Amino acid sequence: MALILGIESSCDETAAAVVRDGSELLSNVVSSQIATHLPYGGVVPELASREHLRAVVPVVREAVERAHVTFDDLDALAVTQGPGLAGSLLVGITYAKALSFALSKPLVAVNHLEGHIHAVLLEHRQTHSDELPLPALALVVSGGHTHLYLVNRLPQGSWSYANVGHTLDDAAGEAFDKVAKLLALGYPGGPVIEALAEHGNPHAISMPRSQIKTKLKRHEKAEDPPESFDFSFSGIKTAVLRFVETHAMQGSIEQRRANFAGDQNPTADDFLPHVDQLTLDLIASFQHAVIQDLIRKTLRAAEDMEVQALIVTGGVAANSRLRAEFHKRVSAEGLRVFFPSRGLSTDNAAMIAAAAYPKLLAREFAGAHLSAEASLRLGEN
Ligand code: KG4
Ligand code: ZN
Repeated sequence: MALILGIESSCDETAAAVVRDGSELLSNVVSSQIATHLPYGGVVPELASREHLRAVVPVVREAVERAHVTFDDLDALAVTQGPGLAGSLLVGITYAKALSFALSKPLVAVNHLEGHIHAVLLEHRQTHSDELPLPALALVVSGGHTHLYLVNRLPQGSWSYANVGHTLDDAAGEAFDKVAKLLALGYPGGPVIEALAEHGNPHAISMPRSQIKTKLKRHEKAEDPPESFDFSFSGIKTAVLRFVETHAMQGSIEQRRANFAGDQNPTADDFLPHVDQLTLDLIASFQHAVIQDLIRKTLRAAEDMEVQALIVTGGVAANSRLRAEFHKRVSAEGLRVFFPSRGLSTDNAAMIAAAAYPKLLAREFAGAHLSAEASLRLGEN
C-alpha cells in the first residue's frame, strides 16, 4: 500500500491531495485564485506566485487532515515539475523538496499533462478492477494545452505517451478565455460561455474550419499532403473579433464592462440580462466551432491509430456540450470515451498523486536538483 501526497501549483490553483495506490482518493483540496486574476481577464504570473506562497502550507495541511492521516503515514510526495508558469511551479517544487527532506520521504516529479490523463485513470480504478481499454487516445484540453497523446501501459507497469497532435497557436481553453475577455464576460471564460451558449443559436454565425496539412519531410513529395492532427483556434478567435467589429458591438460590450467593474465573481445568470441575442448567438456559434473542431480531429486520429478508447481531460473537458457531443459521436463509431468528474477536470493534485504511483513503484525519484520546467514536454513526438 502506498500513500502519496500530491502538490500542484503550475498555474492559478494551489492544490494538494492524498491518494492511496493511485486508485483511492482520500482528500482533494484546491484553492483557486480566480478572484485575484479576475480584474485582469487572465492569469498574472507574479500575482499567481504570490498567491501560491500564501496558500501552499495551509492547503497541504488541510489535505493531510482531511485524509485522516499524518505526515509520517505518507510513503512519498509528488509535485508538478511542468509545464506551467515557472514562478508558480517553483513554489510547489521548493515546498515539496523541503517537506520531502524534512520527512525523509522520496519525492516524485510529475508532468502536469500526464497528471490530467491520470485523473481519468484514477477515477476509472475507483469503480473497475481493470484499467480502461488500451491503447487509448487522450485529448488534453485546457487553458494552456490542446494535445493529443497515444497512451499505453508498458508490461512493467509504467505508462507511455506519444504526442500525435497539438495546437499551433492558442489552446482551446485560452480561446474561451480570450473571447470572454473580448465580450466583457469575466474570467475564466469557459464556464460562463458554456452557460450563455445555451441561450444562443450555434448555427447562426459561420466560423472558419481549421485544416492543417501534415508537414512533409524534405525528401517526401505529395500533391496533396494529408491533414494533420494539429489544432488551431486563432482563426475562430479572429472571426469572433471581426464579427464584433463589423456588427458594431463595442458599445454594448463597454457598457457591460462598466456594469460589472469591481464585481467579485459574476455568474452567467448575472450576465444574461446584459447580453443581447446577437451576442448569445455569437457565443453559441463560437463554442460550437471549437467543440466540432476538437471532436473531428480527435475522432480522425482515433480511427487512424485504431485505439480502444478515448480519454478527454483538462479544464475544457468540464464543458457539458463537449461531453454530450463526444458521447453521441463516439457511440456511433463503436468507441468508448472517458472523462474525469468535473472536479478533477480542472487543475488538482489528486491527478499528480495518481500519476506518481507507477513512478514510485519503479523507484523513479526526483533528485535534490529538481527544478521547474516551464515548457516540459510529455512523451515522444
Ligand atoms: O486544466 P485547467 O484548470 O488549467 C490548465 O491547465 O490550463 O483549465 C482551465 C481552462 C480555462 O481556460 C477555462 O476557461 C477552461 O479550462 N474551462 C472551460 C470550462 N471550465 C473550465 N472551458 C469550457 N467549458 C467549461 N465548462
Ligand atoms: Zn491543467
